[in-house]
Amino acid sequence: MAGSQVDLAKPIKTYTCTACGAMFPKWAGRCEACGDWNTLEEQVLPKPLPGGLKDGARRAGMKIEFVGLEGINPPPPRVPTTIAEFDRVLGGGLVPASVVLVGGDPGIGKSTLLLQASASLGHAGQEVVYISGEESIDQIRMRALRLGLSNAPLHLAAATQLGDIIASLPQFPNAKLVVIDSIQTMWTDSVEAAPGSVTQVRAAAFELIRTAKAQGFALLLVGHVTKEGTLAGPRVLEHMVDVVLHFEGDRGHQFRILRGMKNRFGATDEIGVFEMTGQGLSQVANPSALFLAERRGNVAGSAVLAGLEGSRPVLVEIQCLLAPNPGGSPRRSVIGWDSGRLSMLLAVLETRCGLKLTMNDVYLNVAGGLRVSEPAADLAVAAALISAASDVPTDPEMVFFGEIGLSGELRQVAQTELRLKEAAKLGFTRAAGPKRVAGGTGKLSVPKSLSLIEIGHLTDLVGVITTGRELTPKQKETT
Ligand code: TYD
Ligand code: MG
Repeated sequence: MAGSQVDLAKPIKTYTCTACGAMFPKWAGRCEACGDWNTLEEQVLPKPLPGGLKDGARRAGMKIEFVGLEGINPPPPRVPTTIAEFDRVLGGGLVPASVVLVGGDPGIGKSTLLLQASASLGHAGQEVVYISGEESIDQIRMRALRLGLSNAPLHLAAATQLGDIIASLPQFPNAKLVVIDSIQTMWTDSVEAAPGSVTQVRAAAFELIRTAKAQGFALLLVGHVTKEGTLAGPRVLEHMVDVVLHFEGDRGHQFRILRGMKNRFGATDEIGVFEMTGQGLSQVANPSALFLAERRGNVAGSAVLAGLEGSRPVLVEIQCLLAPNPGGSPRRSVIGWDSGRLSMLLAVLETRCGLKLTMNDVYLNVAGGLRVSEPAADLAVAAALISAASDVPTDPEMVFFGEIGLSGELRQVAQTELRLKEAAKLGFTRAAGPKRVAGGTGKLSVPKSLSLIEIGHLTDLVGVITTGRELTPKQKETT
């Protein structure tokens, strides 16, 4: 036995991959688990307690009680933040004793959002604790002043030492929410590692989560995002929490989207839409109007998608630009959509409709900075591509939705009625969508002000857009 024993006096070092959370006993340039380079970070596991458990002196395990599936204790009611867009993404408010991680690029507005949520909870009569490790009290007060929230009742502190924080929280036994901005600035002296390192982030989160569960408050953690777009610190942080939200947006644009990535208490595909104004974030109850606000009719290469984000219909403009590239190896540049999906669509358009774009660079953009992931966007993207290639603008009063298969056939998508209703509400009079299947379930109700153009195959779409015109993108003469 002696040879296999670990030297208990020495701290145990391991190396953790910041991308996937895998642990290794030795450092390497590349993580063997996920294949990422330069992601291994040293982690020192806590020293075993002095006089700790020796081999053979283990606590005799207690019997666990096993139960059946029946019988429910009603969960404690959720605490609404009173910011409707935030509550929507949370699934109806904060769940007591739950842990929410809010990630996002620096400067996107995380601190602003959480200060507003805290203040509005405070105004609603709930006890809220706000701890910042990034900003001084004065900075936060200045922000509060700017937001018109100076009079909101909340307990504010600037601190980074976790021990102090944990020792101070029992002062607020009725706290409904504790905000930690950000988890990367917190450090605990129970582990020997630099603040911000994987070890510290993990240990700090663990201790905070334990306190939240014990004391029953909801814990909101702000997490930094690396330039690759994942939450810094190991993925393990995402596993430890109940809800992961991403606050995203283009800093050049004024609006921001709060997106659910993981939610143990609700749907994950919900979004909340906000607009960054001089007085902080304001909620956008009708995102379609916002996304379409800058649309110009009569430009070839643009089509409006009747999309769906979670349970909410959202109309967005898909823009496409074709630039001649006679030199071969054309560029495909996509913002806000999946580039693999674009390649597939281009291949289908080429083989099924004869649209040749091998001599063109293709730039595709979802206007306004929204990221669209549903397959129903296929038809709108195809419409934008066909419109750009034929130089014929799409009908400005028409929306598009539908999934496209490899043979160019159109497939049904979810929630057609919701999409049509939203389009009608915003003044659109025509919608191009998949052909209704004969004998399909139920009858589709189409708003009176709108006519549905049923498309069975991509070639029908070409007809609808070009109305007989030639489908060849302009080629620059090479000299
Ligand atoms: P902040 O909440 O500090 O971002 P994060 O915590 O995600 O790093 O937001 C900072 C940005 O928001 C900053 O660039 C200024 C802008 N902003 C406004 O436009 N209006 C406002 O009322 C506030 C408070 C910030
Ligand atoms: Mg901040």
